[in-house]
Amino acid sequence: MDYREYIAKKLNTEGVTAADVALPPNSEMGDYALPCFKLAKIFRKSPVQIAEDLKNSFVCDSVIDEVSAVNGYLNFKVNKVGLAKSVLSEIFKEREKYGSSDEGNGKTVCIDYSSVNIAKPFHIGHLSTTVIGGSLYKIYKFLGYNAVGINHLGDYGTQFGKLICAYKKWGDRATVEKGGIHAINELYVRFNEQADESMQAEAREYFRLIESGDREANELFEWFKSLTLEYVKGIYDKLNVSFDSYAGERFYTDKMQPVIDELRADNLLKESEGAQIVDLEKYGMPPCLILRSDGASLYATRDLAAAIYRKNTYDFYKCLYVVAYQQNLHFKQFFKVLELMGKPWAKDLVHVAYGMVSLEDGAMSTRKGKVVWLEDVINKCVEKAYAVIDEKNSALENKERIAELVGLGAVIFGALYNNKIKDVTFSYDKVLSFEGETSVYVQYTCARANSVLQKSGAKIQLPPEYMPNNAEFEVIKALAAFPETVRDAGEKYEPSLIARYAVDLAQKYNKFYIDCKILTAEGDARDFRLALTSAAHTVLKTALSLLGIGAPEKM
Ligand code: ARG
Repeated sequence: MDYREYIAKKLNTEGVTAADVALPPNSEMGDYALPCFKLAKIFRKSPVQIAEDLKNSFVCDSVIDEVSAVNGYLNFKVNKVGLAKSVLSEIFKEREKYGSSDEGNGKTVCIDYSSVNIAKPFHIGHLSTTVIGGSLYKIYKFLGYNAVGINHLGDYGTQFGKLICAYKKWGDRATVEKGGIHAINELYVRFNEQADESMQAEAREYFRLIESGDREANELFEWFKSLTLEYVKGIYDKLNVSFDSYAGERFYTDKMQPVIDELRADNLLKESEGAQIVDLEKYGMPPCLILRSDGASLYATRDLAAAIYRKNTYDFYKCLYVVAYQQNLHFKQFFKVLELMGKPWAKDLVHVAYGMVSLEDGAMSTRKGKVVWLEDVINKCVEKAYAVIDEKNSALENKERIAELVGLGAVIFGALYNNKIKDVTFSYDKVLSFEGETSVYVQYTCARANSVLQKSGAKIQLPPEYMPNNAEFEVIKALAAFPETVRDAGEKYEPSLIARYAVDLAQKYNKFYIDCKILTAEGDARDFRLALTSAAHTVLKTALSLLGIGAPEKM
């Protein structure tokens, strides 16, 4: 049962929905609370008076034990026996499905994320889009949506002409085969450092050859592309993300002309210094460039074609773009152009912007040579995780496997834990601390709960009536909050809510673990505590899995 919904329904008051019912910061006040401030406008009374009136007309029942009105808040104390029973029974019934829903049935959400650039480094700057998008994908599926993961590959542009030119001049098949994306990237960097005017002209010619369907140029291009994809897919596997489509920018080559025709027919195209633009001055934005003066299309042109294609193909309910805030203007512009083209669904496009991740030593510069490859960050984290685990429990079996789960978890959690729009500094020591607000802490708590369950040897059974003590009840309330946390995370495109939730539940479980005997308790108390442990274990694992993080059974 959703208690917030229950309370809202029971209040049956204008302006009050389940979302208005909050969890007070301290449980002395109540288990749930309704702030009455925003109701003042509707009822033309002071919040204090409104809370008082609502209190007087509220009739307690078997779910809500007590109501009080304090300083404009209406505070509720729930029936603890009832809440404990209903939450735990629900978790035992639904197991790893607890928190899922069917709110998304029949609706498709497209999620454009990671969207790597072919032949360019897959660096730490791609971490956030990859793990935030990957998590949203899992969250939406969990909420019943049909999620479509799209990797809008950066596989279009003059850089491929440059790459072919550099390969022809300095490269050879064996070296590139062996070095993969690194070798390709080296060629590209070298071109940018050393190419003279004649090489630049050659590069433009190669690009033209790719465009005009020349066989050799296209074979080379496809080869570079497949080497890049092979490489990034290895990283996707580690980070637990996957895609349903790899339709990149190039895929839209033949789908741009109809868009340009439509823009022209709508009288939206204007010539400006030889280029074709859509004027957005009225909306306080610079013009959206559609065709350069040499007739070449742009990033925005391909995004327009892609959005239309996605609408036609998937008939999405929403289409999300998980892309750094540096591209805010780009998204605002092309969303606006679609609106001007009379696409009513333009309002369903969402730029899910996020901040920058940088390393502690500041080594994030993308200038040549200073790029930090994501792969190196992952490897270093796994290595450090091994050392941390070894120190804590050197007799542990499968240390390598566990270090991998812990190290990868730390990379993912490090990028997910903060509100996504914040810039974050990634610190190896911080993300791998057993004590901090980290995935390691959550994983460790999970393993701890699992170990209790293993030792108990008992079948989990719920006592028919049990009055939880404070520490137990805090865990119960946290467990009860999981479904709404998942819903919130989906609605706000904010996986960090789940990451924070997992830390909070782990902290509450650990407090309970320290305060209460479990295995040496007797009778109903033992049964209840084991049941609580099992439920916490299940929910912690589910929360981690929604972030793409695995939970070792032992640590
Ligand atoms: N490849 C682009 C970049 O690295 C991101 C693409 C995002 N998706 C999109 N539909 N524009 O900047």
